[in-house]
Amino acid sequence: MDKVSFTQMKDGTKEEYEFLTAHEIDHTKHTADRLLQALVDLDESLSGYQITRLGHSVQSATRAYRDGADIDWIVSALLHDIGDIYAPYNHDEYAATILKPFVREQCSWVVQTHGDFQMLYYGHHLEGFDQNKRERHRGHAYFEDNEVFCERWDQASFDPKYKDLPLEFFAPMVREVFDRTPYDPDVIRPGAREPLQNAEVAAARPE
Ligand SMILES: [Fe+2]
Ligand SMILES: [Fe+2]
Repeated sequence: MDKVSFTQMKDGTKEEYEFLTAHEIDHTKHTADRLLQALVDLDESLSGYQITRLGHSVQSATRAYRDGADIDWIVSALLHDIGDIYAPYNHDEYAATILKPFVREQCSWVVQTHGDFQMLYYGHHLEGFDQNKRERHRGHAYFEDNEVFCERWDQASFDPKYKDLPLEFFAPMVREVFDRTPYDPDVIRPGAREPLQNAEVAAARPE
């Protein structure tokens, strides 16, 4: 079989659905490569800043790496704005949806709500924006983590002079994360908090 014969889902057979499932599993194996390509596509988006969205993404991930953060944090930092391509009004939720099955809950929550936290840095300059939008999340277990994420990695990463590590440096980490078993409880670890900064780990990293 190289194609199913049904034209309505309700008419499909067990064999056809087994065939399609095998195809889908094969397709999911290449998610990391598609995401890396999407990051390259981000290079063309959002002009006006001193660096492109790809530059911003790589710089955020580089800062996470140099802060000694773990792989969940680094990959989340790298992909936090991936939603800018198709979801300009909820880019944070879009990115979080991609990450959710594969990273710690702490990281996907921070990505999901980072747009509200980022408003602290520019909301007061623009009509109709609430600089304190993040306050709606006050009291959440990961509130402080998002403050650090935005302060150290997101809002800081628009510097054309900063020495970014290349996207290729992060590619194996993206592959490792998206090769994980989706929704693995040992990965999601609801409620677990890992530090964004670890001086000892940072000091041991070569670059
Ligand atoms: Fe963002
Ligand atoms: Fe960002």
